Amino acid sequence: MPTDGNRPLHVLIFGAALRQGSLNDRLAGLAQRAVERRGARVDRGSMQEFDCPSYDGDLENDGIPDPAKAFCRRLKAADAFMISAPEYNASMPGVLKNLIDWTSRIRPQPFNGKQCFLLSASPSMAGGNRGLWSLRIPLEHLGARVYPDMFSLAQAHEAFGEDGRLGNDVLQKRFDDTVGCFLDLVEAAMRYPGLKKQWVEFLGEKPNAATDRTEVNETEAA
Ligand code: FNR
Repeated sequence: MPTDGNRPLHVLIFGAALRQGSLNDRLAGLAQRAVERRGARVDRGSMQEFDCPSYDGDLENDGIPDPAKAFCRRLKAADAFMISAPEYNASMPGVLKNLIDWTSRIRPQPFNGKQCFLLSASPSMAGGNRGLWSLRIPLEHLGARVYPDMFSLAQAHEAFGEDGRLGNDVLQKRFDDTVGCFLDLVEAAMRYPGLKKQWVEFLGEKPNAATDRTEVNETEAA
């Protein structure tokens, strides 16, 4: 993997299910292999590590929960992040949205400008793809650069071979190639940071203290 100086890319990857034996955790493992094969460094997380109490504005007065702080720290240390998320009722899991909500309260807002790749695994024929479209919304709202291609593994309960790879070689190649294209973009964004943008949460609102949630690029602020 080409680098910025000699530094390999650093990617945070996690599956967004709490249960043991999660198909999405397995898919996250497959993503880890594909990323490492290209010479990048992986920080493998888990939903258990990032699971937070339900968002509550009163609780927030006592501080951000430790799991969200840990997630934020690991997100900031990474050049990109990848989430393999189950689809629950055509949307994302509540625990994942809860993590996003808590993390979004931290300043500087840690999703802003981060490159992101979304995956899903489901026993269904659609592979959990609808959930990823719902997941895009808060992530893009928060300024994450969500890669246009997503990977949804249909019939995931039957898709993995004993070696952890996909049984279907054509699909495995498509997976590896898609992850590779994403990493190329992450590297390009690292080399050409001019793509950075300002983050404004409430576009079009009149400026006032209650609604002002705007961040300028660090380079502009300097
Ligand atoms: C599901 N599942 C599911 N699957 C799907 O493709 N579309 C859906 O809308 C839903 N909805 C849904 C709701 C709830 C509450 C549960 C618990 C499950 C099935 C889901 O894809 C399956 O359980 C996966 O195995 C969950 O991912 P993990 O835990 O294996 O990573």
